[in-house]
Parts: sequence; structure tokens; C-alpha cells
Amino acid sequence: MKIACLGGGPAGLYFAISMKLRDAAHDIVVFERNRPDDTFGWGVVFSDETFDNIAVNDPVSAATIRAHFAYWDDIAVHYQGQRVVSSGHGFSGIARKKLLMLLQERARELGVTLNFQTEIASATELARNYDLVVAADGLNSRTRSEFASAFRPAIDIRKNKFIWLGTQQKFDDAFTFIFEKTECGWIWAHAYQFDVDTATFIVECSEQTWQNFGFGAMSQDESCRSCERIFAKYLGGHRLMSNAAHLRGSAWLNFPRVLCEKWSHRNIVLMGDAAATAHFSIGSGTKLAMESAVSMANYLHSEPAMAAAFAKYENARRTEVLRLQSAARNSMEWFEEVERYLHLDPVQFNYSLLTRSQRISHENLRLRDKEWLESAEAWFQRLAGAPGNTVRRPMFAPFKLRDMRLKNRVVVSPMAQYKAVDGCPTDWHLVHYGERAKGGAGLVCIEMTCVSPVGRITPGCTGMYAPEHERAWKRIVDFAHAETDAKICCQLGHSGAKGSTQLGWEEMDAPLKSGNWPVMSASATAWSERNQRARAMDRADMDRVRDQFVAAAEMAARADFDMLEIHCAHGYLLSSFITPLTNWRTDEYGGPLENRMRYPLEIFHAVRAVWPATKPISMRISASDWVGAEGIEPRDAVAIARMLQGAGVDICDVSAGQTSIRAQPVYGRMFQTPFSDRIRNETGMATMAVGNIFEPDHVNSILMAGRADLVCLARPHLADPYWTLRAAARLGDRGETWPPPYYAGRDQLYRLAGGEPAITPMRP
Ligand SMILES: Cc1cc2nc3c(=O)[nH]c(=O)nc-3n(C[C@H](O)[C@H](O)[C@H](O)COP(=O)(O)OP(=O)(O)OC[C@H]3O[C@@H](n4cnc5c(N)ncnc54)[C@H](O)[C@@H]3O)c2cc1C
Ligand SMILES: Cc1cc2nc3c(=O)[nH]c(=O)nc-3n(C[C@H](O)[C@H](O)[C@H](O)COP(=O)(O)O)c2cc1C
Repeated sequence: MKIACLGGGPAGLYFAISMKLRDAAHDIVVFERNRPDDTFGWGVVFSDETFDNIAVNDPVSAATIRAHFAYWDDIAVHYQGQRVVSSGHGFSGIARKKLLMLLQERARELGVTLNFQTEIASATELARNYDLVVAADGLNSRTRSEFASAFRPAIDIRKNKFIWLGTQQKFDDAFTFIFEKTECGWIWAHAYQFDVDTATFIVECSEQTWQNFGFGAMSQDESCRSCERIFAKYLGGHRLMSNAAHLRGSAWLNFPRVLCEKWSHRNIVLMGDAAATAHFSIGSGTKLAMESAVSMANYLHSEPAMAAAFAKYENARRTEVLRLQSAARNSMEWFEEVERYLHLDPVQFNYSLLTRSQRISHENLRLRDKEWLESAEAWFQRLAGAPGNTVRRPMFAPFKLRDMRLKNRVVVSPMAQYKAVDGCPTDWHLVHYGERAKGGAGLVCIEMTCVSPVGRITPGCTGMYAPEHERAWKRIVDFAHAETDAKICCQLGHSGAKGSTQLGWEEMDAPLKSGNWPVMSASATAWSERNQRARAMDRADMDRVRDQFVAAAEMAARADFDMLEIHCAHGYLLSSFITPLTNWRTDEYGGPLENRMRYPLEIFHAVRAVWPATKPISMRISASDWVGAEGIEPRDAVAIARMLQGAGVDICDVSAGQTSIRAQPVYGRMFQTPFSDRIRNETGMATMAVGNIFEPDHVNSILMAGRADLVCLARPHLADPYWTLRAAARLGDRGETWPPPYYAGRDQLYRLAGGEPAITPMRP
């Protein structure tokens, strides 16, 4: 096959090598506009496992590359005058120039023709003269632009500024992050050694800081001198150097996140950064480029035709790229938002940094550096007020809100059971909540319990508007208090326009087949075309509903609940005031967010006045309507939380969505946790995170990184009331209390978790 590789970076060279290894008869030319040793940038990093994959493809080049690797295991973080070091991370680094020279050498040895200082103006000409053109022409790929309508690239220019510098200062003991506060703003460096003499030193900051420094108007040299002054205490008198002579101007860049919809067009195929990029902070661009080269070479030899090979290549690589891009995006966004975390204690800040891409879990960190993680866990427990020098996982740390003390951080999230009769909880609820209270969670939140018959969502919803409701709830609360050490929270709500609908397991949100009752909401809206249009509430309605909330709170207090949660999320009545999607009012309760928050806050103040001062109140909000700028967005959620905080709400339960049928949620593990993270770290308010959190590891990493104070699990608690006790047993934690009648079951679980036989003599 006659092949042209457009670009002599890692992708182009490694593809040429990989093809020659599979069939020496291929006629391959690499066209590179630069000279052989004339490369921009400094070092690149690989992780240990990354390189093993590459070594299988060509042990020869792998061995020569490995011989030039600088290795390190530690990550050091300089922040607030401290240097926090953790270990076990396993990286290697090499000079980009060296890597390319070794690949050039290997390519030559295998018979590849290398044409340097040859700029290709258009791939069209090449495509005519070669069977295959591999466009490995990098981040700013000209080929990608030339055939943009075929490749359909999405290019997202990110907001931070960075410059890729080098230094002869040694960073040979650890991959080093340095965060410096200056009068122009925060600025930080990612530094790592890549050969005996030189280290990469990437400087990054926000656009604002960059402007404050005036970097835009500086030459590359001036930027270097300026960065030297900023990071002087870490550079030991060494200079910072730029080798970006190919870049005009200041050499500061914004990272472009690239993903092409199609990776091939006729006989041209995109590879490496030309097809997709991954942010430099997870150091995987070179690995992706080289792995894609191997994949393409494989398929060209396994598939009968080039088109089939392209299809398989694109399919296989896209999945891998998306996986990496997702981790890279988390990491990139962490750096974009890092100023949010710069108040954290160095221990927590370090943890947040290490887990930023969400690829490294809590237990994975333990495998890497047990000692460091345990010191961080001890720090967390100390801060939580645990006795002595407790080292336990964060999920088992106590938490205090007003006078309510929780034994741990796991919350059974409110979940409607639709089993009430005329609003009255039944034996179902006694057994259901009793089991969850026994199951080990620190806090059990009951389902949305409605303040009036018309405030119910469905005929099966529980209420708190009749004396028998209060009695039935008290029986449940008394059971939890008498038999368990869980606390129990009453969620109060009003369905608004989403009321008068079918049970959850019938047709959710659909109107009742018969017996519908009239509904009201902030404005005359309907949940969907099928649902009835709500009446817009007038002042008398608002007073009545407020009084119903107050009466319900008084009943909940008499029933001895430990905490109240006011449901202001998911499109129900109070939520309908907050989101502009359903609040079109022209009075002082509509318009700007301050006005839309007025009624939920009136309810809060009225309820707070009758709720015992020793007990906390939470508000659950939808932090995103998932409809873009038309609705609530995370930044509005921060403003909402500030208002709740100002009003004296003790904790914000940060949910999202269910406010519009147009919502387009982006699901994933812990997908709503970023909203809680943002609220907690921008306002300082305590938060609960919820949404697709199902592993103990998720809970621990959320808490340890300071993304929430409490973690709610809903569906996992439907499947397993004993989720917390089981998690503790599995993790080897023996500190959780079990109900005494269950001790034999507990001991068996402990033995199984410890790898012992399940059956041992039982006590009579
Ligand atoms: C600041 C920074 C730090 C990074 N750190 C790391 C890291 O630590 N680890 C890592 O794995 N990756 C890192 N990367 C990413 C890495 O550099 C790229 O992902 C990788 O180089 C992609 O390889 P490539 O072959 O696709 O493209 P490139 O390496 O960009 O190669 C493309 C080549 O094509 C040539 N070319 C372009 N157009 C033409 C033309 N018209 N005619 C002839 N030649 C042309 C260019 O001169 C260039 O040599 C980093 C990137 C940045 C910006
Ligand atoms: C069956 C069911 C009923 C629910 N009922 C309520 C409710 O009454 N009040 C509420 O605020 N959220 C309710 N939710 C939402 C959950 O509390 C939680 O926010 C959501 O399920 C996401 O958490 P998960 O991924 O752990 O399930 C309900 C969820 C489920 C699955």
C-alpha cells in the first residue's frame, strides 16, 4: 500500500512504524513541516499501564523509549505554604524531542521515508497520489478544516490560559503542582522532570488573572521572566524557557477540546490530536495518538477493505477517546474552577486535586498510598468531631446540625411509596421506614408528605394534615427512636401543578383516570398537554398554603421528627415559584430570582418560627432545570443557596430537574454532585448531594473532597435497606451499630467479608 502520513508527531510516526511492522512492503512517506529536532513543547508523561499497551505493538521502540524515561511515583502539591505529598502514582516522562527522535530512528530503520521541512498545503493532492492519507497534523489540523463538512469537528475553546515552558530546576522527586496567590489573582504550575536536566513547567491561570498580569501584551521572553518572578521560590534561581518559536505572539494558549463526528473521508483518515484532544492535565494525548496508530494499523490488516478498516477503527477509538475525554473534561473543569477550592484545607485540597478526573477512587487512593489516605481520613474525622484519633472512612464520620447529631453521613433519600390511605401512613410505612432506620444510615428522610389533600401528588401520597396522620407518623418515629440510632426527617411539600396524578408505578405524572382534583401553581401552567391547567395562586391561596405548611410542621414537631425538609424541587408547588419556566407572575413573586424566591422563603420563615430551635431545617432544590439558559442553571442555584443561607436554612439538599418535560439531563455516575460541590464551595453552606450515587466509594470521595456534607441514596435503599451496614462490613469497618437481634447475621457477614468460612458454631 502507498501511504502518506501528513505530520511527523507521535501519531504519524508511530502509525508508519506500526504499518511497516505488519508488512514491510508498504511504501510509506511521512511529511513533516519542521526540522527533525525542531519540536515545540518539552516533556510528555505516560502512566505505567499506558506504556505496557504500546510495548506489545513494538518492543523495540518501547525499549529505547523506556531507556530514556524519567520515573517518579509521588505527587506533591504546594498550596498555602505547605507541601503535601502522596505516593504510588507511577508516572514516567520523556522529552517530546527525544521521543520523536527515537520514533524517527525506528521508522527509518524499518524503511519509512521521512520528508522534513515539507509543508503540505492541502491533503487533496496527496489523496490523489497515495492509496491512503493519514492526517496526523495535530491540534490545528489543516486537513480537518479542509474537509470540515465531512469530518464535522466540534471545537470547544476552553477558558483558562496556559503556556508550556521548560526549566532546569529539578522536579525529579515528584510530579509537582504549585498554586500561588498573587495580587493579580491565583496562578499555578504543573511541573515534571522528563530528563536529567530539564522539567516541563506549564503555567496556567484564569483569563482574568492573565489579563491582570498583562500577559497578552508580553513577548514570550517577557512572559518567562514574569513567571520566573511569580514562582521564584520554587525555581532555585533557574530560568523558565519557551521553545514555541513556531507560535506568534505571547505563546499563551486556550486549550481547544476537539472531537470529530467522522474520522475518515474517502481515503483520508484523521489520527491523534487532529481527530480528538484530551486536556494536558491528564497527560494522555500522546498515548491516545499512539494507540490510535496501532488500532488503525491492525484494522488495515484484518479487514478486507479500507472502508471497513476505517469504520472499525473509528468505532473502537471513539469509545476509548470518549472515555478519556470525559476524565480529561473533569480534570480540565477542575482547573477552570480551581479558585472555588482555594479556601480548602491543604489535605482536602490535595484530595480534591487527586480525584479531580474521577478516575481515581477513594479505595484506589488507598492502594496507591495507604498512609497518606489514612492521615487524610483522620483529618476528616477530627474535623467532624469524632473522638480521639479515629481513622475511619468519611462516610462513617459524625455530623451535627443544630442539636441533631448524626452517627454517619449516609441519608436515605425521600422516596414516595404511594401506599397511604387518605394521606395516612399505614403499616407499610412502619415496616418500610423501620427497616431503613435499622439499616445503618445516619438519617432517614421520609417521602414527600403533603400539607393538604389537594397538595398530594397522587391518592397514595402521605399527608400531614389530620390528627390520624400525626399519630401514625409518631408511631413510626417512635419506633425509629426506640429501636435504632438513626435520625428521621420529615419532608413536607405541596404538589402544585403536578398534583392529581397516578401512582408512581402506574403512569407517572399522568392525570388520574377519574376523580381528579383542581390544582394550583405559581402561574396558570400545566405540567404537560395532558395535565390540567393549574390555577395561578392568589394571595389568599398563598396564605392558606403557608398556614398548612405551618400546621404540618407543628404536627411533625409533635410527632418528634428530628429534622424538617421543605420540598422546593422537582416542579412541585414551591419549585414552580422558583423556576422561570413555570413562574410568569407579574407581581412581587415573579420576575427576578429574588422575587421568585420570596414565597418559598415566606414558607420557610413561617415554618421556622414554629419548628423547635434545636432542630434543623433543610430545603431541597432543583439546581438545574436542564433546559439551558431559559431555566435554572447551576449559577442560579448558587444564588438560590445564598438566599437560603441568608434566611437561616441549615442545609441545602441539592437535587436537579423534573421541572420541565423539555429537560435534557446529562446522566452519569454522581451526575448532580457537581451542583452540590459548587454550592458548598462557593457559598460555604452545608449541602447534601444526591443522584446516581450507589457505591461506598462514591460517598467517601464526595465527602472527602468536600463536595457535600451528607450523601443521599434513594434507589439503592429500595433494593437494600441495609446498604450502610453492608458497606461497612465489606470495607472492614466494625464501628457501626447493628440491632442486637441481628448480631449473628452481622458476625457472619463480617466473617465472609474477612474471607473466613460463613459457618461457625452458633450460640444457642
Ligand atoms: C501544554 C501541553 C502539554 C501536554 N502534555 C502532554 C503529556 O504530558 N503527555 C501526553 O501524552 N500528551 C501531552 N500533550 C498532548 C500531546 O502533545 C499531543 O496529544 C500529541 O502530541 C498528539 O500527537 P499528534 O501526532 O496527533 O500531533 P502533534 O504532536 O501535534 O504532531 C503533528 C505534527 O504535524 C505537523 N504538521 C502539522 N501540519 C502540517 C502540514 N500542513 N504539513 C506538514 N506537517 C504538518 C506538525 O509540525 C507536528 O509535528 C500536551 C499538550 C499540550 C498542549
Ligand atoms: C420511587 C421514588 C420516589 C421518590 N420520591 C421522592 C420524594 O417523595 N421526594 C423527593 O424529594 N424525591 C423523591 N425521589 C427522588 C429521590 O429522592 C432521589 O433524589 C433520586 O431518586 C435520585 O437518587 P438515586 O439516584 O439515589 O435514586 C424519589 C425517587 C424514587 C426512585
